[in-house]
Amino acid sequence: MGRLDLVLAGLALPGLAFAILPGFNNPGNICETLNSTLPNLVTFPNTTLYEQSSQYWSLRQAEIRPRCYVTPQTAQHVSKAVKLLITRNVPFTVKSGGHTGYPGGSNIQDGVTIDLVYMKQITISPDRKTVTVGPGNRWVDVADVLDPLGLAVIGGRSSNVGVSGLLLGGGISYFSGLHGWACDNVKLYEIVVASGDIITATATKNSDLFWALRGGGGSNFGIVTKFELNSFEQGELWASSLILHPSVNATYVDVLQSFAVNGNLQDPAAHHYFIMAYAREFGGFIVLSDQFHPSKKTIPDVFKPLHQVPPQLVYMNNTRLDKVAGLTRASEGRLGARQNFAVMAVKATSAGLIHDFVAMWKEFVDRIVAETPEGVRLQPMMVIQPITVGVIQMMQRNGGNALGLKPSDGPLFLVMLSWEWDERSLDEKLEGESKKLLDEFDRVARQRGLGNGFVYMNYASRLQDVYGNYGLLNKGRLALTALKYDPLMRYKSLWKGYFKL
Ligand SMILES: Cc1cc2nc3c(=O)[nH]c(=O)nc-3n(C[C@H](O)[C@H](O)[C@H](O)COP(=O)(O)OP(=O)(O)OC[C@H]3O[C@@H](n4cnc5c(N)ncnc54)[C@H](O)[C@@H]3O)c2cc1C
Ligand SMILES: *[C@@H]1O[C@H](CO)[C@@H](O)[C@H](O)[C@H]1NC(C)=O
Ligand SMILES: *[C@@H]1O[C@H](CO)[C@@H](O)[C@H](O)[C@H]1NC(C)=O
Ligand SMILES: *[C@@H]1O[C@H](CO)[C@@H](O)[C@H](O)[C@H]1NC(C)=O
Ligand SMILES: *[C@@H]1O[C@H](CO)[C@@H](O)[C@H](O)[C@H]1NC(C)=O
Repeated sequence: MGRLDLVLAGLALPGLAFAILPGFNNPGNICETLNSTLPNLVTFPNTTLYEQSSQYWSLRQAEIRPRCYVTPQTAQHVSKAVKLLITRNVPFTVKSGGHTGYPGGSNIQDGVTIDLVYMKQITISPDRKTVTVGPGNRWVDVADVLDPLGLAVIGGRSSNVGVSGLLLGGGISYFSGLHGWACDNVKLYEIVVASGDIITATATKNSDLFWALRGGGGSNFGIVTKFELNSFEQGELWASSLILHPSVNATYVDVLQSFAVNGNLQDPAAHHYFIMAYAREFGGFIVLSDQFHPSKKTIPDVFKPLHQVPPQLVYMNNTRLDKVAGLTRASEGRLGARQNFAVMAVKATSAGLIHDFVAMWKEFVDRIVAETPEGVRLQPMMVIQPITVGVIQMMQRNGGNALGLKPSDGPLFLVMLSWEWDERSLDEKLEGESKKLLDEFDRVARQRGLGNGFVYMNYASRLQDVYGNYGLLNKGRLALTALKYDPLMRYKSLWKGYFKL
């Protein structure tokens, strides 16, 4: 820092001070400055590398144009970039796998996007008990290295999802029944805080930050440059992906609900979720069912009722044994469409509530399809995933995580609404309508004493209040932790576009 910067930092009001000094908040030549500080690590518009960094899962993010992408290769590079951006008061954001659906989630118009694409190291400890992954890895990169070694980590279920976003917001995995969510199985974080310092957080070192990063997201705390994950021996998994006639929904919901309450006690390793979808190519509504088991070779008992379906109601049956990489590749979404997620949680103790949600969702989709000209592509889904008591118990280890779920809250269902579409003119409508339907779900659930309120960050819409629903205490603790590691509130004001405390 120069002398003037030091004086201003000393005022403890640098945001204000920089804002009133002409020139300091003008990002005009920030990319040239970054380019001379980090040679060959800055990409400018209209180049091949810039277009590569501009690939996002959702077109709503891909069409945003930052001034440049910075593509660091080491934590030191990240630190240099952060120091420059903060000293110059330049709005920025960070991209790992780029799977946030809404615009600005991990890209920034006219700002600077730090793309972690080159930070892809994967190192296995000599005792095979932990794997250290760089923050730019996608889950398939990790599985491609671990599968041949007979190892696995508690990670994502879709190939191109980034390790960072999934780990920082929570992380539902095939292996969650036995181990909890992905964030509960991180042993160490290396992170660049707002001062540019590179620090580590573990259960015993900077343990407040360690707690906050397990579910509290990254954007209020720092840029994680390394995750050390617990690993375990794993061969092929048993997996079944079914596409079925919509009339099976009632049976499938009953089985799912019983699984959420009892199934996980009978067979904690089993993993299961249920999807209602609408797809013109199947002539309307369909049911999707995904079931996994890390050690069985044939249909696990808890899932047998799902396979007693007349064959004429089964459109596709992909039941197989496969390793993690193959499973993640089979569930990769389509690139280049517009996307939106929104989510809420309810108690899983009533199948009737979910039957009613299915009916409400069908009415909602029928209406929106009717309001939309034929030929305009619309692909809505409602995904229902259990959070069993066993999973919440796993979340309490090492001082707990930031999500605010107690075993007595469970079992829960996460109810997620997703839309995929192509027409920009539908953005606001689909985003707003999804939020409205969730609010209605929440109202109905609360009326029946089945409300919960938890909003899972990784599936949340930007219109939702994530931290507010972690509980007042957890939100306060997260805010204090953010302030401790970012006392001048530089990340708070300059790192744009995600959930802020
Ligand atoms: C097809 C698909 C499948 C999915 N499957 C699952 C699943 O199986 N289980 C599950 O739990 N969730 C799943 N999700 C949700 C997923 O966890 C979130 O979308 C997650 O945020 C994606 O992470 P990312 O790194 O790809 O996203 P990004 O958009 O790159 O990042 C998300 C947020 O994290 C910030 N960030 C990125 N890297 C860092 C870093 N190193 N340090 C600090 N902050 C950082 C970004 O700035 C942004 O705010 C899925 C999503 C999709 C679209
Ligand atoms: C960025 O830096 C490289 C290498 O130092 C240089 O060749 C290039 O011209 C610079 N690009 C811009 C747009 O300034
Ligand atoms: C990129 O190219 C397009 C046309 O190909 C041009 O209109 C635009 O000004 C260029 N942008 C920059 C930043 O050079
Ligand atoms: C769910 O199943 C019931 C009973 O089979 C049926 O009436 C209803 O239409 C189905 N819902 C959807 C969305 O297809
Ligand atoms: C799917 O296939 C498996 C094995 O091929 C079979 O055991 C199972 O019953 C089938 N499930 C359904 C729903 O048809």
